[in-house]
Amino acid sequence: MDTCAPLADERARRNRPKSPPKVALNSNLYCILYHSQLAPSAPISCVADIVKTARGFNKDHEITGILVFDGQRFFQYLEGPKQAVTGLVTVIATDPRHVEFRLQHQGERMEERMFRNWSMAYVLVDDSEPLADLDAIEGESAMNKLKALIPMLDIA
Ligand SMILES: Cc1cc2nc3c(=O)[nH]c(=O)nc-3n(C[C@H](O)[C@H](O)[C@H](O)COP(=O)(O)O)c2cc1C
Repeated sequence: MDTCAPLADERARRNRPKSPPKVALNSNLYCILYHSQLAPSAPISCVADIVKTARGFNKDHEITGILVFDGQRFFQYLEGPKQAVTGLVTVIATDPRHVEFRLQHQGERMEERMFRNWSMAYVLVDDSEPLADLDAIEGESAMNKLKALIPMLDIA
């Protein structure tokens, strides 16, 4: 009989990493995807202001994500602490620089951040073809479509 086995088990148990599993680190990670349209009264130049503001605020509040603009439509994905993300989206939804705000997905994010290195990645899409019907789908399907699009986007 191998009498050392229980001792080895006990040693392994004691030596296991003390840090919590990754999923626990992300337990408060929340994400939101929406789309909207540039307001008829808003100049296209306002998009640069939006990105500048977003990068400052989001960095300070641990929010990351991406803003995609095709000259008419915005798609924005935000991820971060639940309170920070939902609070920010309440403000964004009433911003007069865009209209037709439509929430496509919101919920806890159990995986790692998608945009951990971007307080707000920005993509200006010339050819809106890849975005095609992204605004027509909701929930997980919309998230999956966004994920599939990311490698095709020229992120700045
Ligand atoms: C399409 C769009 C996306 C925006 N995204 C962000 C964002 O990610 N972070 C941010 O701080 N502001 C964002 N804004 C700007 C906010 O609506 C708002 O102007 C900004 O948070 C400043 O708010 P305040 O004037 O109440 O201080 C966005 C606005 C629009 C129209």
